Amino acid sequence: MPVSVIILAAGQGTRMNSDLPKVLHPLGAAPLLHHAMRAGQSLDPDRTIVVAGHGAEAVSKAAKAFDPDVQIVLQTEQRGTGHAVLQTAPILTGMPGDTIVLYGDTPFLRPDTLERLRQARARHAVVFLGFIAQDPARYGRMVTEGEELLRIVEFKDATAEERRLTLCNSGVVCAETALLFDLVAQVDSANAAGEFYLTDIVALARARGLSAGVVIADEAETLGIDTRAQLARAETLFQTAMRAEALENGVTLTAPDTVFFALDTHIGRDAVIAPNVVFGPGVTVESGAVIHAFCHLEGCHISRGATVGPFARLRPGAELAEDVHVGNFVEIKNTVLDEGVKVGHLTYLGDAHVGEHSNIGAGTVTCNYDGVMKHRTEIGARAFIGSDSILVAPVSIGAGAMTAAGSVITADVPAQALALARARQVNKPGLAARLMERLRTIKAAKGQG
Ligand code: UD1
Repeated sequence: MPVSVIILAAGQGTRMNSDLPKVLHPLGAAPLLHHAMRAGQSLDPDRTIVVAGHGAEAVSKAAKAFDPDVQIVLQTEQRGTGHAVLQTAPILTGMPGDTIVLYGDTPFLRPDTLERLRQARARHAVVFLGFIAQDPARYGRMVTEGEELLRIVEFKDATAEERRLTLCNSGVVCAETALLFDLVAQVDSANAAGEFYLTDIVALARARGLSAGVVIADEAETLGIDTRAQLARAETLFQTAMRAEALENGVTLTAPDTVFFALDTHIGRDAVIAPNVVFGPGVTVESGAVIHAFCHLEGCHISRGATVGPFARLRPGAELAEDVHVGNFVEIKNTVLDEGVKVGHLTYLGDAHVGEHSNIGAGTVTCNYDGVMKHRTEIGARAFIGSDSILVAPVSIGAGAMTAAGSVITADVPAQALALARARQVNKPGLAARLMERLRTIKAAKGQG
């Protein structure tokens, strides 16, 4: 059965007290919206539509970064969840199969829950996802009779008796596409909030003699983010889940509570992650690689047998081939290190390529930026870059070449050549002692003891 996914993301998120649209606040280094889109993708949908309103341009850009095929629909005025869904009618009317409505601020839905929701459609025309709330607060209450969902009543409109119900609406719903739009078109705004409630489709479906049902999920899964405090709690939950998953997948985490993952972090079996490592977006660590303590990694790929850190920073475009060693206080950006390269200490490599088995001495810096443009540094295989070499890009160092320690390299170095680009040393016999003596005399004359 074909399925379409709608993700509502038009709300302002006033309680975040932020200029950033709520769904773009990060959780696991990815916008909340990406989490919802990922949940939607687990259904292998035929199409995904994001309903954007507040900050629509930024929301649309973030949505497309996750899935270039996503369709964006504008809801210029937020007149309720029913109204938001109705905005997608021009795209979805006439589409076969079911539609599932998700929320950009609800990041923890699990694929198997969505699958249960979808399967419950065999028994009901409309299925809402509910949860038993510890504190039902202002959630919509689900009025049921056995397995049948009779209606959903919003907190504002509920009687005291209805407010005592603990079965609450997550908002997530699955219905046959044609029926969904039929029903949503019938929704009015005659309620306490003056909004078009999506939840009204339950009573509307039943009035037509159709069945509505509820699938119950764990409350933790249906958690929506409204405030920064909730976002901070969600981050803790997210990290806890990611750590458990990594351990389950055969990754060694010496101190799991000190390692922070991103939504898309991939770590292979038998990789070792030492304490206090932070993964930004876009990191892959292959099997058996070792990340020592206090590293910050984003947008990089670390191959088998490579070791990184302690105290290393890998930035976007850092590509480490097998058995590469990157040591302490090394920063790598947009640079490919071929197999067996060693960059042991205190080095910056940016916009560079280093051929296999080259050794980059301590304190090497690629001067890749002239204040306006970026330039590349090419280092051939089995080269030896002496300590404290300054490589002023664009520049290339040939295979097997060497640069002398302390050199400022401004011209290409041919393969096998030794480049010396520093002042020649001169020794003045006895001068140090005479100079010291003179300085001591001057100090004594000034009476400074
Ligand atoms: C909604 C449900 C409520 C449920 C709760 C769960 C309705 C009428 N009520 O209430 O039963 O318990 O979610 O969190 O559906 N949105 C839009 N456009 C709009 C309105 C909302 O895109 O015009 C988006 C918001 O960005 C938000 C989501 O839909 O992410 C939920 O909207 P909100 O107004 O917060 O609904 P609740 O009042 O929480």
